[in-house]
Amino acid sequence: MKKVGILFGMEDTYPWAFIERVNQIGDGKVKAEAVQIDKVQQGIDYGYHVIIDRISQEVPFYRSYLKNAALMGTAVINNPFWWSADEKFFNNCLSVQLGVPVPKTVLLPSKERPDDTTEKSFRNLRAPLDWDYMFDYIGFPAYMKPHSGGGWKSVYKVESPEDLFAKHGETEQLVMMLQEEIVFDDYYRVYCLGQKYVHIMPYEPRNEFHLRYATESKIKGDEHKKLMKTIHDLTIKLNKALGYDFNTVEFAVRNGIPYAIDFCNPAPDADINSVGQQNFDWIVEHSAKLAVEKAKAHKAKKNNCTWGTFLQEAISGPKGTRPAGLKTASEAKKTVLKKPVAKKKVAPTKKSPTKN
Ligand SMILES: Nc1ncnc2c1ncn2[C@@H]1O[C@H](COP(=O)(O)OP(=O)(O)O)[C@@H](O)[C@H]1O
Ligand SMILES: [Mg+2]
Repeated sequence: MKKVGILFGMEDTYPWAFIERVNQIGDGKVKAEAVQIDKVQQGIDYGYHVIIDRISQEVPFYRSYLKNAALMGTAVINNPFWWSADEKFFNNCLSVQLGVPVPKTVLLPSKERPDDTTEKSFRNLRAPLDWDYMFDYIGFPAYMKPHSGGGWKSVYKVESPEDLFAKHGETEQLVMMLQEEIVFDDYYRVYCLGQKYVHIMPYEPRNEFHLRYATESKIKGDEHKKLMKTIHDLTIKLNKALGYDFNTVEFAVRNGIPYAIDFCNPAPDADINSVGQQNFDWIVEHSAKLAVEKAKAHKAKKNNCTWGTFLQEAISGPKGTRPAGLKTASEAKKTVLKKPVAKKKVAPTKKSPTKN
């Protein structure tokens, strides 16, 4: 008998449906339950062949428990080591390397210094930063959002350098990204499981929360078919590179090109009340199927987590030459058209490592 566990927080529809479905299709060979923890001792195997992790981003105790479980051979979905290492800016960098369209993006140092650092901790940062270059490259309006985060928290639309500096002033110790706005004709949210099961959901982020999935593709026929194939292939490509087994990728479509906007969602919303019955049924069915497959494929005393091609190739050595998407800073400078931008700067605050 193989054992599947699910680790979860406040969500209350998906976990129970997942457990029920695994127990139905597990056919007496695979059984599922809510993970039970009453102690966590180093180097001890608590007996799960597969764990679906829906919450360790919020509970560091669970993340550490899962790393031990992975060491003991549990197929943890998603790999807790990779999840700990990953963030959205790196995701974008990797996409550039992979040739996946992403909005132009730069990383901004936090407005306030991290705890226990002083001005002296930031001698590697030039003051002022090269804001003119960044504004020329990104343009306005733009989006500013945390380099690691989710749930639309601290996501800002900024209209001008002044607006950017004002809003950046509210972001405390968050490391932010400044990103080109993709003015989209169409938007999709895509579930991807096991790097092979893909479910494309039309999504309207401008609707009220409960109506975001109540929308349709804006295009039809062959054009629609072609776009769905492109989105499917880009989704697989990103998840294979990152090594996620349970993720969503969001795409904003501008002039027929799907730009990957948000693709670091390793515990994506799967609540029936937001995704709707049809999408809920898909995610329950396919995640149960994946868990049963992983449980049956589990090899004792081996690492059964998924490792993305980025890491695999980093270890096994590069394949071929530098990928086409990557440039040096001086090559990049040549490609940014110099446009005049508003020069007015907000005075630096005492606490600011960015010094504006
Ligand atoms: N570059 C962008 N262009 C257009 N819209 C964006 C952009 N970045 C974010 N958005 C909008 O803001 C929403 C939240 O941003 P997102 O990157 O998905 O953050 P989160 O991880 O918090 O969901 C998106 O669903 C989208 O509607
Ligand atoms: Mg999002």
